[in-house]
Amino acid sequence: MSHEKVETNIGLMVGLVLLVVSFGGLVEIVPLFFLKDTTTPVAGLKPYTPMQLEGRDVYIKNGCNTCHSQMIRPFRAETERYGPYSVAGEFVYDYPFLWGSKRTGPDLHRVGGRYSDDWHRVHLINPRDVVPESIMPAFPWFEDNLIDAETTPTKMEALRKLGVPYTQEEIDGATAAVEGKTEMDAMIEYLQVLGTSLKAGGK
Ligand code: HEC
Repeated sequence: MSHEKVETNIGLMVGLVLLVVSFGGLVEIVPLFFLKDTTTPVAGLKPYTPMQLEGRDVYIKNGCNTCHSQMIRPFRAETERYGPYSVAGEFVYDYPFLWGSKRTGPDLHRVGGRYSDDWHRVHLINPRDVVPESIMPAFPWFEDNLIDAETTPTKMEALRKLGVPYTQEEIDGATAAVEGKTEMDAMIEYLQVLGTSLKAGGK
């Protein structure tokens, strides 16, 4: 019996299991590369400005994403706390995306516009000054560290290769846009744009 053959031959069984699992995986994953919903930017989505892009790098460099997710799930408890749930078209220019699932702190996807720039500045220098019970680490050095303006255009060129529609003019102006700016300035510009593209697109 063929069934017995599979059950008594571990090599054959492993091979067939791998075949079934990879087929199942492909059926779920491959269509995502072609679905309009996952590949088309939402109407209001703009590529990050040089400052926002540098802010995002400061965010990654300091591991903010280890405590904060950027993905609001479509459940009432989440949308009432954070705002409209996240959709794939908002992340088309994120390389890599920072969705995450570990939340030591709150989700930050819709934090853009929720607080003033000054609130963020005080909060990042010492979270306890505005949220007394906060366990978030302080990042006071953001005020002193300057952005490395020389590398910004290179980063934008790399992103353009991946499909982010930067114009040559934007890339040429990038160094001037971040020159002399601190990590704090860049971080705040990044936080303030997070999750605002749905609204900008009129939804
Ligand atoms: C060790 C975990 C941890 C790390 C790392 C961390 N945070 Fe937080 N964050 C928290 C916690 C907990 C809170 C909630 C208390 C508070 O508001 O301070 C929070 C709150 C926030 C808030 C306010 C969110 C809201 O909706 O009220 C912002 C903005 C924020 N963090 C940004 C950052 C940024 C930017 C970084 C990286 C520079 C960072 N966090 C790193 C734990 C963390």
